[in-house]
Amino acid sequence: MRKLIIVFGALIVLGGVVRAADGELDMDLMQTIEDTNKSMSSNIAIQNAPGSTTDAKELQALFSQVEKHFVAKGGADDAVDLSRKSKELTESIVKSVAAKDFGTASESATSLSRTCRTCHTFYKKS
Ligand code: HEC
Repeated sequence: MRKLIIVFGALIVLGGVVRAADGELDMDLMQTIEDTNKSMSSNIAIQNAPGSTTDAKELQALFSQVEKHFVAKGGADDAVDLSRKSKELTESIVKSVAAKDFGTASESATSLSRTCRTCHTFYKKS
């Protein structure tokens, strides 16, 4: 519960930052995505179900922020699609982990990392 409150608080802060950033995607948001993605991969690898689920759900909320950013920005349909695809992948990770199917969860995590790279190829400036 405490962890949930912290995550929720962080999301509110992040939401504010993204809106304030005026067209630019906030780096702290991506850094949080990077850290959470790494944590999720290791949690899946060691078959830590509660940890994997927490991370996957947090990533889902973070990608909602990314999606909102690109919807608001406009003219970035591919980025919107990739944000949605990322959300779907985190959703299937939650389901696979609930079914204790860490093999499928791991495959989805690999697809998710590929989605990161695809979006960066098109939308990351440096
Ligand atoms: C829908 C597009 C999109 C997706 C999906 C995406 N990113 Fe990003 N990411 C960006 C953009 C755009 C930037 C650069 C922001 C800028 O230059 O303003 C970025 C920057 C970054 C950075 C650099 C931050 C810094 O401080 O320099 C990291 C790390 C990163 N992303 C990690 C990830 C990881 C890990 C994933 C997948 C789990 C991911 N991203 C998925 C669009 C995306």
